[in-house]
Amino acid sequence: MVAVAILAAGRGTRMKSSLPKVLHPLGGRSIVEQVLQSLQAISPTRCLVIVGYQVDQVKASLAKIDNVFPFEFVEQTEQLGTGHAVQQVIPYLENFTGDLLVLNGDVPLLRTETLQQLLQTHKEHQNAATILTAQLPNPQGYGRVFCDEGNIVQQIVEDRDCSAAQKQNCRINAGVYCYRWSDLADVLPRLQSNNNQKEYYLTDTVNFLNPVMAVDVEDYQEILGINDRQQLATAYSILQERVKSKWMAAGVTLIDPDSITIDDTVQIQPDVIIEPQTHLRGQTVIQSGCRIGPGSLVENSSLEENVSVLYSVITDSRVAANTRIGPYAHLRGHASVGAGCKIGNFVELKNSQLGDRTNVAHLSYLGDATLGTQVNVGAGTITANYDGVQKHPTKIGDRSKTGANSVLVAPLNIGNDVNIAAGSAVTEDVPDDCLVIGRARQVIKPGWRLKRRGQDLEGRDRGEKE
Ligand code: UD1
Ligand code: CA
Repeated sequence: MVAVAILAAGRGTRMKSSLPKVLHPLGGRSIVEQVLQSLQAISPTRCLVIVGYQVDQVKASLAKIDNVFPFEFVEQTEQLGTGHAVQQVIPYLENFTGDLLVLNGDVPLLRTETLQQLLQTHKEHQNAATILTAQLPNPQGYGRVFCDEGNIVQQIVEDRDCSAAQKQNCRINAGVYCYRWSDLADVLPRLQSNNNQKEYYLTDTVNFLNPVMAVDVEDYQEILGINDRQQLATAYSILQERVKSKWMAAGVTLIDPDSITIDDTVQIQPDVIIEPQTHLRGQTVIQSGCRIGPGSLVENSSLEENVSVLYSVITDSRVAANTRIGPYAHLRGHASVGAGCKIGNFVELKNSQLGDRTNVAHLSYLGDATLGTQVNVGAGTITANYDGVQKHPTKIGDRSKTGANSVLVAPLNIGNDVNIAAGSAVTEDVPDDCLVIGRARQVIKPGWRLKRRGQDLEGRDRGEKE
């Protein structure tokens, strides 16, 4: 039986941010969500998230996520150190007899396999505690772990508390611990705060437990902790490497991968081509045969087969198969475009539903509109959906055509097979199968320029001048 405690109560002073450190975004998830993600395959029996700094904000942010196992919040009202943080779980695990996996909430790149190996080693050796360590080229800032030849931990000394000689030790504490809970519960009350930071260090528990074994991680990149923006950027680029390698191995072409970013939360099918300067974010799903970019942003959206997107922005929207988007289109606010459509240059769609084979090719804004199939929206057609107070809907039936530069003043219902004359301002509903002209009739006045000067058409003076 494994329970988990995630330490996420600290402020993260070195981030110099009003946002709690563990909520900083990292490739589609917050830092602490990324930690939860690494636990999905372990499915702990209990998961206690220790929160403190800006507790409401952290709770609200985590309440929104869709986690496969339940977790509980434990409050640490004063942040007196990592040991003090784990002391807070004692009342929650009173009758618990298994192992407690403790994870720092700011170490987001851990792989599930690494955690599984740690748990297994812990079990096999029946250790009181087993901790994850790494050999770092630059160990500055991390706690140094001192072991005997058998990898049995003697002591962990924080960077700030290290002597110059101790600082030479490159074996560091990753902030990932597996404890036999009954042993840990006994020693937690014995921690003291006689150190540089006057904090209760979790790392001091190794002084009271026996044996504590250290296990080196194979790839030290996994255990990088995030304390400042520089480390956040490093973690982001490591995550990007992983995500892009995964999709390339799965049959996705990335043209100039360094210029592309893909959130860890995105799903991509094989035979998708992603062109340079393209960014895929959030809960985005891209089906086979799509070609995205160059120069595009797709966020929380789903694109069905063979969609192409060129220099465009798509957020919170859905595009059906074989539709072409762009160049320079903007879909947002739950736009939904049917199959075989063309959404062209400088077109903005907001909260609008378009049927199959409907085209909006140039210079349009459609907001809160529902269009049927095979509609042709002429260049410059605009839905006037806002009266200054409220938004109103526009409906256009199948096979209807709007002329260039028409303004559709909502609320408005336009039937099937309707033709709207160019330049019309349509303010009233139009039934099926009609031509509607909503503009002043053109007037032609021959000779108007000369008449005004009092001359006839040949330019002779008509004697009317004053
Ligand atoms: C800690 C370890 C260090 C290790 C490093 C690995 C200790 C004393 N030191 O140092 O040995 O090398 O992690 O990344 O544990 N937190 C709380 N409550 C608190 C204080 C901290 O929940 O009162 C949380 C923080 O939100 C953070 C985590 O614990 O997620 C680690 O705290 P941090 O202050 O970043 O510890 P480090 O100095 O990095
Ligand atoms: Ca840290």
